[in-house]
Amino acid sequence: PSPPVADELPCTMAHRGLSAHAPENTLSAVRAAHETGARWIELDVQLLGDGTPVIWHDGDVKRCSNGRGRLRDLSLASAKTLDVGSWFEAKFTGERMATLDEMLELVNELGLGLNLELKVNRGRDARALVEAVLPRVMEAVPAKRLILSSFDAVALGVMRTRQPDPERLRLGILYQRPPRNWADDAARLEAYSLHVDWRRLSARTAQAMAASPYSLLCYTVNDPRVFERLRAWGVASAISDDPGRLLRQSRIAG
Ligand code: G3P
Ligand code: MG
Repeated sequence: PSPPVADELPCTMAHRGLSAHAPENTLSAVRAAHETGARWIELDVQLLGDGTPVIWHDGDVKRCSNGRGRLRDLSLASAKTLDVGSWFEAKFTGERMATLDEMLELVNELGLGLNLELKVNRGRDARALVEAVLPRVMEAVPAKRLILSSFDAVALGVMRTRQPDPERLRLGILYQRPPRNWADDAARLEAYSLHVDWRRLSARTAQAMAASPYSLLCYTVNDPRVFERLRAWGVASAISDDPGRLLRQSRIAG
């Protein structure tokens, strides 16, 4: 039999890499996700002050490094001096912030699917983020192994303008709470998927979304009973801090 390909969405994705067991959004977290059988990962991307795209969630480095300060004030050289592993566990001491380019190389080496979230933190420029990220990612990762997602309407709109063909660029719309007119958003953007916080998703909305032309993803799903319920509602994929555990503890075949 041929090896599994990541072209189709699996029913789980590893949130920020295997963030239950490794420092989130790092190369180690992605390797760990792959080692436990994950086929797709979700990661966050944003820009340093010098314009380098890096894999990082917060607007500052306090929570996930041994340093302080805003991401927008860091150059790549200063970002690379930070230890981004020891806050999580001593064995990750020495881990460095990953640039987007370093991460894309690893993702391709491991053959993973990538749900890359363009994270527009407060006061940051959505257009600049898209201009820096989109060409690199589209060149590096085959279209079927890639979803570019964002909460930010400007980022999503600029991406669709840059690549109008929905087959060549799969866009995922992130919602904390889906608005009534989600179908209008999705049609306008020719989206591929809708990514919703499961805590704010009703059965009715989930079923309507699952019956639409768009795939429905939920974040962040760590409870096996919730996972079973969401799957019964038609959710295609659950973004989880520990997908292996979710699958082991639920009655759903991975
Ligand atoms: O992409 C899904 C999820 O990652 C969105 O929330 O805060 O974990 O980036 P957050
Ligand atoms: Mg995210």
